[in-house]
Amino acid sequence: MRIAVIGSGYVGLVSGTCFAQMGNKVTCVDVDEQKITSLKQGIIPIYEPGLEQMVVDNQKKGSLLFSTDIEQAILNAQVVFVAVGTPMSDDGSADLQYVLAVAKSIGQYMLGDMIIVDKSTVPVGTADKVKITIQAELDKRIKHTVDEKLKATLQQLNFDVVSNPEFLKEGAALDDFMKPDRVIIGAESERAVQVMRNLYAPFMKSHDRFIKMDLRSAEMTKYAANAMLATKISFMNEISNICERVGADVNKVRDGIGSDTRIGYSFIYPGCGYGGSCFPKDVQALVKTAKDFDYVPRILDAVEAVNYAQKSVIANKIIKRFGENLDGKTFAVWGLAFKPETDDMREASSTTIINELTSKGAKIVAYDPKAQHEAKTFYLKGNKNVTYAAAKYAALPQADALILITEWQEFRSPDFDEIKKLLKAPVFFDGRNQFEKQRMQDMGFEYFQIGVKD
Ligand code: NAD
Ligand code: UDX
Repeated sequence: MRIAVIGSGYVGLVSGTCFAQMGNKVTCVDVDEQKITSLKQGIIPIYEPGLEQMVVDNQKKGSLLFSTDIEQAILNAQVVFVAVGTPMSDDGSADLQYVLAVAKSIGQYMLGDMIIVDKSTVPVGTADKVKITIQAELDKRIKHTVDEKLKATLQQLNFDVVSNPEFLKEGAALDDFMKPDRVIIGAESERAVQVMRNLYAPFMKSHDRFIKMDLRSAEMTKYAANAMLATKISFMNEISNICERVGADVNKVRDGIGSDTRIGYSFIYPGCGYGGSCFPKDVQALVKTAKDFDYVPRILDAVEAVNYAQKSVIANKIIKRFGENLDGKTFAVWGLAFKPETDDMREASSTTIINELTSKGAKIVAYDPKAQHEAKTFYLKGNKNVTYAAAKYAALPQADALILITEWQEFRSPDFDEIKKLLKAPVFFDGRNQFEKQRMQDMGFEYFQIGVKD
């Protein structure tokens, strides 16, 4: 199939590359010329394991092209995926300006029947808006053209708008896309469903994972899934705060409840709060949608509030230990990305923790295997109290304590003797509960965790 993917960020680039890998002819489009120039050279602008190789392989085969020319991409495509950003607006709603700008372009350029697929995470009702926007542009063209043949072509055009939300996780995006738990398709016509079924058939060889529904349910499914996962995390963070006060160990409680198959072990890890480009904005967008439809959600508001507070838990422990005035104190930070295996720092807890500590006078020496460039050039750019180390142990000399924020694999089994030797004193704040408290204490560390009494 000939596919255009509009928006070549995390989702667009991964989706386009995986469709190309399955033998389709894909053009990934973006308005960011620098991004497209580097993609054409086989340099991918994000860190996502395995992606660069797959991009290069498919470029060589000619099945994956990159372009800034949206018109040409639309003219050549049978299926157009919309994978642009839907960032949070000031009122919490999803900003649809990029999605609707793409819809407008589609209406302005299409000349043949096509299927337009909303891959971006969009509020319920967006597919209808996309349809109206495309049709309005088509109607304008029909009205203004003097070419009778073109007018007739435009009048006969058929297009479907499909909702196909994406569930990939950064850091495991290729695997998630190539072996999806499910493919959700919201569509109004059998023709569109059949095209989507054919497109996704190669991704579900073991058994059918195709779930077909109406447009609004498909759009809602994405928000419900993210809200459910965010709820699990906030619930567990709340339990961890209670554990800490009553003298229970959240690590043991997590094992205890996760063993119940109805609860399960996944997404019940307490920590520094969830970050990333999805959970924070999607929970808030769902709250806004609910309120727009005269329903005041209580659980979702609480999920957000717990997460907001959770981002300060580690900083509060540090302040409790070292005092309100952190002038003259230096802290080593391991991990800046919002989670391991990505360079993404959108809504990363590290930003909140570091800004809280430096606002009280502390200096930070940070190390992250992949996200340092993002931190330096954008997320912590203005913070003069942050410097960066080239390797994990290089962040430690003369620091008053080590703070672990992102659980990269290289932090999982560190040389504890080296840490003790390099730090001013062996004080370790672990925001991801990576180690056993008793073992750390036996090694001489003053060791702080989430959800365990200090
Ligand atoms: P991103 O910011 O990484 O990429 C979006 C890209 O769209 C950018 O490169 C931008 O330049 C481009 N763009 C904007 N307007 C354009 C236009 N008119 N024409 C062409 N390109 C345009 O965003 P992302 O993380 O890939 O997310 C995209 C969507 O997918 C969002 O709705 C997001 O919520 C959803 N989503 C993201 C993830 C994730 O893990 N990142 C997972 C599932 C769903
Ligand atoms: C999420 C969804 O998982 C994915 O399905 C959706 O398509 C996009 O949003 P992502 O944001 O890439 O994916 O990361 P995810 O692995 O879900 O982690 C999100 C945040 O939750 C991270 O900050 C992570 O540290 C935190 N988290 C996750 C916890 O604090 N505890 C957990 O048990 C799991």
